[in-house]
Amino acid sequence: MRVAVYPGSFDPITNGHLDIIERASRMFDELLVAIARNSSKEGLFSFDERADLIQKVTAGISNVRVTSFEGLLVDFVRETSAQFIVRGLRAVSDFDYEYAMYQMNYEMSGGADTIFLLASRDYSYLSSTIIKEFARHGRDVAEYTPAQVNAALLNKFGHKK
Ligand code: PNS
Repeated sequence: MRVAVYPGSFDPITNGHLDIIERASRMFDELLVAIARNSSKEGLFSFDERADLIQKVTAGISNVRVTSFEGLLVDFVRETSAQFIVRGLRAVSDFDYEYAMYQMNYEMSGGADTIFLLASRDYSYLSSTIIKEFARHGRDVAEYTPAQVNAALLNKFGHKK
């Protein structure tokens, strides 16, 4: 069994995340989409809301399991016996942080490798943070998020869909 963990904040899941999930799901027997519960970033959606949205938009992919973890990613990887970590890389600005994280995680986990998937062209500059900012001001972000996420965002900010 080739098992991979795709960790992130997913606050909320975007089309960029979904693209990585679809592609990674074809590379592994099981893909665990894992919401980090102790991320330093302040969340808009609760962990349950994030998990619910991911669940809905990945329902059609049979080898994807949605979960969450507290503490270090490397500990979660060991507990689940996953061999791989998946991360998406967008513009070059992601690189330094991702490279540092890969090296530390590789050493601290005793060899769990990180597989980087380059963001598809349409999603190279997509970020949950920027999407939230547009949605906060009532902009429809359906081009960048699954429909359920767009609706949840507009609803969260009190803009009717
Ligand atoms: O979607 P994000 O915010 O880019 O994901 C970052 C995440 C959650 C993968 C990273 O912060 C993480 O692994 N957090 C768990 C705690 C941990 O292991 N920290 C050490 C590596 S930074």
